[in-house]
Amino acid sequence: MKHIVVIFICMFSLFLIAEEIPSGEHALGSRKYSDYEKPESCKSCHTRIYQQWSQSMMSQAYTHHWDEIEYWELAVPHGDKDPAFKAAADGCNGCHAPLAFLAGDVPPPRPSENSRANESVSCDLCHTITGISGDPVNFNWISEPGRTKYGAKEGLVSPHHITKFNDIYTVADYCGSCHNEQNPFGLWVKSTQIEWEEGPYAEQGVPCFVCHMPKAPGRSAPMAEEGMVAQHIFLGAHNEAKVKSAIEVSIHPDEREIPYDGAVVFQVELFNAKAGHKIPTGSVEDRILWLDVRAVDAEGKEYHLPVDLKGFEGEEYTVASDELAYSDMGFSLGLDNFEGVQRDGVPVGNRIFRMPYFDENGIMTIQQWNTRSFGVDYRVGPRETKLEHYTWYMPDDIAFGDVVITARLYYQKLVKPVADFLNVPADESELILMNEASTTIEVYD
Ligand code: HEC
Ligand code: HEC
Ligand code: HEC
Ligand code: HEC
Ligand code: HEC
Repeated sequence: MKHIVVIFICMFSLFLIAEEIPSGEHALGSRKYSDYEKPESCKSCHTRIYQQWSQSMMSQAYTHHWDEIEYWELAVPHGDKDPAFKAAADGCNGCHAPLAFLAGDVPPPRPSENSRANESVSCDLCHTITGISGDPVNFNWISEPGRTKYGAKEGLVSPHHITKFNDIYTVADYCGSCHNEQNPFGLWVKSTQIEWEEGPYAEQGVPCFVCHMPKAPGRSAPMAEEGMVAQHIFLGAHNEAKVKSAIEVSIHPDEREIPYDGAVVFQVELFNAKAGHKIPTGSVEDRILWLDVRAVDAEGKEYHLPVDLKGFEGEEYTVASDELAYSDMGFSLGLDNFEGVQRDGVPVGNRIFRMPYFDENGIMTIQQWNTRSFGVDYRVGPRETKLEHYTWYMPDDIAFGDVVITARLYYQKLVKPVADFLNVPADESELILMNEASTTIEVYD
């Protein structure tokens, strides 16, 4: 009887310990920096993985210029001026500087101070995750730092650490814990894993790893067995090659021979052939994809063709205009009566594939934490094809002969007027030509 009671108490306390490991926002201050090993201590054996990781955005999540600007110039002051946003501002670190968050060091020292916050999403943070508490959202992974490193392979042996298989390393929920985010108003301001879950790749058993950590033959450490090794490259929006051609573009006229006073309709097809989620995904408040269609006549004159309207609700946010937006930055920046900056910075009349985020006044915002509602979701889903139409009435001065029509699809990580206003280095708002396609018509007398 005594034994049974003791066993019961032991089991109960184990249960309590298991329950006590806080996750998500409750994990603030629950650990010390020194609980986690530095990436440099993995480098001696996992040299190539270390080099891959250090070139990826994972190792720069806290130090990258635009992250630094948005966090320090918008989020932190917003939280200071309005306590309702303090937890959200602290929470940025849960995903971008998780060691600082776990150590309760928020806001962390600035990147220039070279603290351990700069390790960003580090090896030891990722490899001491032992589970996700519930559906993946808002850094709700469970962190158990120590000698045991967890991974997706069974039965490995290492001189430096205990090595354990954990099936969380084989499912998209693992990535979703940081790639899905709900803001203080309960809105899903990031939903990459959810988009994936609802799309064709989840059904076919193709998780994030397949496309973002592809496997290749080799060994992960000098003393390891030869095998297929997960490449820690994490290519995404910051890699031009990854973005290029993710969407295929083609263009066709309804008719090829057009009288000089006639009109022609073009159809452009855009097929998301490569991404496991919508494009854009992730930081959807920042990112835009847009289609620019131009005609060049036999004498070299160029005409810009605006897209035909489809008439759906909220379409005005998917057609480039000169309107102003993003005025809610004024509060964080301490600017009175700030009217905002240009919404798009894209040639007027072009189709934009995006989902607008609105502030409390129904004006577009790039401050995802301040988002109160979303507009129409006009992004390109995984394996979805969007069709756009252009009706072009021949201009009076058109030259007879061949006219070449070209459709170009551009991607921008951050809308340019916002980038320029906040002095974000130009690479964040550069135009990436994703794809282009041309077709020819003939204009006759
Ligand atoms: C002294 C060499 C050495 C060091 C230092 C080292 N490891 Fe390893 N690690 C290994 C070896 C060997 C393996 C087994 C690889 C194999 O057989 O494929 C391994 C395997 C792993 C695995 C795979 C686990 C699995 O089951 O899939 C992970 C994850 C890992 N190490 C993480 C780390 C991290 C994080 C660090 C730094 C904190 C680190 N290692 C430091 C040698 C090392
Ligand atoms: C601890 C949180 C965390 C986890 C877990 C995590 N990520 Fe990330 N990831 C981030 C953050 C934060 C960034 C943004 C870095 C930046 O630009 O500041 C990022 C960036 C990326 C990027 C680059 C995006 C770009 O804009 O270039 C890719 C790709 C990516 N993650 C894929 C994954 C995959 C696949 C997994 C699962 C194996 C994963 N992530 C797990 C936090 C995480
Ligand atoms: C965003 C989280 C994340 C980060 C950061 C990360 N890893 Fe991994 N790592 C993973 C996942 C997930 C896998 C399993 C992928 C798979 O098998 O598909 C993995 C696999 C591994 C493996 C086993 C490779 C193999 O296939 O044999 C080693 C070793 C490893 N990681 C070491 C490291 C080291 C060292 C670092 C830092 C330089 C690091 N990881 C950074 C998530 C991460
Ligand atoms: C079928 C391959 C595939 C799968 C599966 C996949 N991705 Fe991607 N991912 C891509 C491609 C291609 C891009 C580049 C185009 C783009 O930016 O969307 C990309 C881009 C990204 C970006 C940067 C996008 C942006 O707009 O900033 C992130 C972050 C990302 N993926 C995370 C994930 C996560 C997390 C998962 C799993 C839930 C996942 N991906 C599953 C192919 C894939
Ligand atoms: C739940 C995890 C999570 C939280 C919380 C979070 N982020 Fe992020 N953040 C990410 C991920 C993942 C990405 C990469 C998505 C992508 O590439 O599209 C990202 C991307 C960004 C980017 C774009 C980086 C670039 O170079 O394009 C900025 C800026 C940023 N976050 C700032 C913040 C700020 C400020 C906060 C707090 C108000 C915050 N984040 C809260 C996960 C998070």
